[in-house]
Amino acid sequence: MTLFRDRSGPRIKHVADEGAPYETITVDKLTPIIGGEIDGVDLRDISNQQMDEIHRALTENCVIFFRDQHLTQEQHLDFGRRFGELHIHPAAPAEPGHPELMIIYADKDSPRANGEGWHSDVSCDPEPPMGSILYIRKCPPKGGDTLFANMYAAYEALSDRMKTYLEGLTARHTGEHYRGQYANYGIKDKESYPFADHPVVRTHPVTGKKALYVNEGFTRYINGIPRDESTGILNYLYKHMANPLFQCRFRWQENSIAFWDNRCVQHHAMWDYWPHTRSGNRVTVKGDRPY
Ligand code: SIN
Repeated sequence: MTLFRDRSGPRIKHVADEGAPYETITVDKLTPIIGGEIDGVDLRDISNQQMDEIHRALTENCVIFFRDQHLTQEQHLDFGRRFGELHIHPAAPAEPGHPELMIIYADKDSPRANGEGWHSDVSCDPEPPMGSILYIRKCPPKGGDTLFANMYAAYEALSDRMKTYLEGLTARHTGEHYRGQYANYGIKDKESYPFADHPVVRTHPVTGKKALYVNEGFTRYINGIPRDESTGILNYLYKHMANPLFQCRFRWQENSIAFWDNRCVQHHAMWDYWPHTRSGNRVTVKGDRPY
């Protein structure tokens, strides 16, 4: 895939050919830029070759989806552990006895829903998660979709001048907005929440490709430049990365799973289903310090 800018904005010039065919799974791309729905696998019982191909599908599509999966909480955790050590969220509620199993829940009495607004999960951590595996068990009759955006594509479509400007800059990410967010679960605020400085453009440790790594949820300012300039640049980048060209939108059904790579993807959950209920769990896999 090659993206470029002309006077009217980002465009696709070329979509690269697929690699070798998959042998143990099928992958149906949602768009040429991002998202692949995987079929032919029961996540309770995965062969090593299927694991390798799932990994490859994640790398190639940035976010992958599975339908009609029937995992217990333990099996969901076990699937996550096959990708690395699990992350514990610094603020959100978890299932009793399973601190790594984050609760995703909104109903008619909820003051808010998880993940509204574009973000990369917990980017305020010094070592933010590599990936998140969301299993939705109960869906509203309509709505509750999740949008995903490809941050390699967003980076690639910047002008060369903007890429040069951003080179070497870091930005401050904080989790201070978690304060008060989970009061309805009886969770008291912590004295402090994580914060970290990360490169504005990070290099993915597996693909070696560059991806934009600032997000509206956690990034507060770019370091080392005047604050008004930082606000202007961040607002430009947020508008740029929200271009639908870089996105796919997943329509959930009960027992679907989405697995996204936080190092090159941002996501945005829609809370458009009030007064209905949407619920599930997220298992989050630890990552490395961005560079
Ligand atoms: C999140 O993990 O940010 C929530 C996403 C969703 O509920 O779709």
